[in-house]
Amino acid sequence: MDVTRRVPEHVAIIMDGNGRWAKMRGYPRTMGHRKGVEAVREAVRVAGDLGISYLTLFAFSSENWTRPETEVNDLMGLLKAFIRRDLAELHRENVRIRIIGARDNMPGDVLPLLLEAEETTKDNSGLTLVIAFNYGSRDEIARAARKLAARVAAGELSVEAITPVAFARELDTFGIPDPDLIIRTSGEERLSNFLLWQAAYAELLFIPDFWPDFSRETFMAALESFARRERRFGGVDPVAAAVSR
Ligand code: IPE
Ligand code: IPE
Ligand code: MG
Repeated sequence: MDVTRRVPEHVAIIMDGNGRWAKMRGYPRTMGHRKGVEAVREAVRVAGDLGISYLTLFAFSSENWTRPETEVNDLMGLLKAFIRRDLAELHRENVRIRIIGARDNMPGDVLPLLLEAEETTKDNSGLTLVIAFNYGSRDEIARAARKLAARVAAGELSVEAITPVAFARELDTFGIPDPDLIIRTSGEERLSNFLLWQAAYAELLFIPDFWPDFSRETFMAALESFARRERRFGGVDPVAAAVSR
């Protein structure tokens, strides 16, 4: 099957297994995170090459703050280094960056970098790279509910106007289509608070590889598996599993 002719519009990835990748080799966990950044670069290249419109990467969850301080600091450092080092090239490659997740309670020097990445690339028309950082679905949904409640309390919005479409507009992902395919690496089969609302009809794919081993071939195999699936969206007849090109 030629998967390049049937690619999903939006792929989201739960990049998991950095720590175990390192442990298996007798390295500190941070080595796994470092290798993981290289896998990120490759995934972005493949998504761009194949004409995927949106690639969402789960980089740091709202629950990952509970990790040891040294690991959290390492992860913050890697994110900052990634943006500093790669932003210019991503911009040249016409990639548009969007950040989803809560924008409070993060180290003071991280937010300005994230905002700079969004601002610099906002008019680009190629791949949209969505970085889920300080992201948790329940937090996102609660923030959306608070915004709607405030508008109702202010008399700007009727209770009846709170529909799924109106709700989705208040989520961090507004304007981004729901993911067609969610891939999780490392063999874990759970969503871990990722895109719970948006995943309503996503195809889920759990693969055994640890994230640092995620390669072009792994990505292509995942897309092949997606292209073979039949999606029904609650109906009777299959709906095209992918955007045909
Ligand atoms: C994914 O790898 C990276 C982040 C969650 C930030 P992990 O660090 O969760 O690696 P494992 O799951 O412990 O192997
Ligand atoms: C999910 O992985 C978060 C990211 C990939 C950023 P975790 O490693 O945090 O998830 P759990 O704790 O195994 O569910
Ligand atoms: Mg993990």
